[in-house]
Amino acid sequence: MKEQLEQLLADAIGQIKADGVLPADQTVNIQLDRPRDKSHGDFATNLALMLAKPAKTNPRQLAETIVAAIPQNTLLAKTDIAGPGFINFTIAQDQLKQQLEAMMTSDRLGVEPAQDKRTIVIDYSSPNLAKEMHVGHLRSAIIGDAVSRVSEFLGHTVIRQNHVGDWGTQFGMLLAYMEALDNQEAEYELSNLETFYKAAKQRFDESPEFAERARELVVKLQSGDEYCLKLWNQFIDVSLSHCQEVYDRLGVKLTRADVMAESAYNDRLPGVIEHLKEKNLLVEDQGAQCVFLDEFKGKEGDPLPIIVQKKGGGYLYATTDLAAIQYRQQELGGDYLMYFVDARQALHFEQIFTLARKAGFIEGDIRTQHYGFGTVMGKDGKPYKSRDGGVTKLADLLDEAERRALSLLQQKSSDLTESQQQEIAKVVGISSVKYSDLSKNRTSDYIFDWDLMLTFEGNTAPYLLYAFTRVNSIFSRLGETGFDQTADFILDDPREVALANQLVRFNEVVHQVYDKAMPHFLCGYLFELAGRFSSFYEACPILNQDNEALRNSRLKLARLTANTLSEGLDLLGIPTLEKM
Ligand code: ARG
Repeated sequence: MKEQLEQLLADAIGQIKADGVLPADQTVNIQLDRPRDKSHGDFATNLALMLAKPAKTNPRQLAETIVAAIPQNTLLAKTDIAGPGFINFTIAQDQLKQQLEAMMTSDRLGVEPAQDKRTIVIDYSSPNLAKEMHVGHLRSAIIGDAVSRVSEFLGHTVIRQNHVGDWGTQFGMLLAYMEALDNQEAEYELSNLETFYKAAKQRFDESPEFAERARELVVKLQSGDEYCLKLWNQFIDVSLSHCQEVYDRLGVKLTRADVMAESAYNDRLPGVIEHLKEKNLLVEDQGAQCVFLDEFKGKEGDPLPIIVQKKGGGYLYATTDLAAIQYRQQELGGDYLMYFVDARQALHFEQIFTLARKAGFIEGDIRTQHYGFGTVMGKDGKPYKSRDGGVTKLADLLDEAERRALSLLQQKSSDLTESQQQEIAKVVGISSVKYSDLSKNRTSDYIFDWDLMLTFEGNTAPYLLYAFTRVNSIFSRLGETGFDQTADFILDDPREVALANQLVRFNEVVHQVYDKAMPHFLCGYLFELAGRFSSFYEACPILNQDNEALRNSRLKLARLTANTLSEGLDLLGIPTLEKM
């Protein structure tokens, strides 16, 4: 609908250019928003305000000229000019009904598949395996997973890549510590990687012999020593199973098969250096191999190197990422590489993307994009910490979420058994953590606040999950009798119209989430949908409605609402509940 309207406006602009109202070479960016006031129609544009100057007229005047130039159509019921020159559009009811009908009969709620189908390689989660996953790993996993789901839903081929860090110098320290423990002890201590890491680090800082051994072991590991590789494999395996537990609890679709660790690129690294050398991009600087690109300068305009090989021959994070770009394109066939990584790595990605293009690692129509995100903050405005001031393990955070959700549910009167409540609390707890993250603008920092995420009020998971159970309960009360799904939609009450208008936006919103990699658009949409449903439900009787035609129409609206809520939540990686 939005696209059709955009087309009408484009035609109108074409017309007024032909009429000489606007210079023919004037670029026009047609943008449609929601009207300020819901009662003022379905779409609004500020085109007349933007173009009044080049048209050498006042915005209201121009708005009238644009409106007059809109071709005859069946899409619009009404066009109004408001305020200083906003144009507000009301979609014709026939159109709205047609769209609802199309959603009703579609198995994808009328969401159109993407036109430009891509093979998208999505790098997300990608934690460092030396430590257990902590709160800082939440956003990449959750946001990356939601965008993967949306991309798949739109018909793209999605290849997930978990670029875990498994090859840094820290591993020497961990191996030395493993070695110092006997087998049984090691197994026990590895069950909590966080304390294992801390203990190893303490030893490393206190004992020079231990530190020496740690350094020895890294060198041996990196030169392929079998004993070291065996210890290391053991460690990596434990660490990956910790990650997998977290993914499973979070409902994040990553599996072991998606792991493509940093170390997996080892064999390709010399080739990367070789290639850069051939392209005359390498410069030796204090023994290290570097690339200097004109695009990147330090604060004082001093050259900023991308170091690809250290003095002793060791490779770096950037080198591995260059190899990964090559692999993702050449071997995975990716033509769109997405990276869900902390915004603080923005410069790193800009550098390697620019370099990859210069060096010919990526060519032509291959898209590369770093989708950064802000930091999870505590209420004190500093990065989120546990009560003892340490980092919060994700597993502990999720435990706490489940506990808190249980007590939230216990405060609410319900006919659920205790064990049902416990099951439901798991879903509500985890979903609350996920949803509170997804509902924030990806690029901003946000404050992690248990009270705000675990409440039935506002744009939260409990609110939406509960809203779904309410719509759903209509159908369980309806039971076997069912309703006539082929009945016509009747949109007489303004609340029916408002709900219908929101429902038909689903297609547009899902595409928007994909285009910007911003799941919060979908959250905002679902929240608004649930709100409009609730106003409709209060004002418009459904099951105790004697008018058969009206009852069927309202049941259809409720059906579409339930389906859209559950599809929308599923795209965010959040399951729905039958009861709560
Ligand atoms: N392991 C890295 C870290 O914890 C993130 C990796 C992101 N992906 C990548 N291809 N660089 O910071």
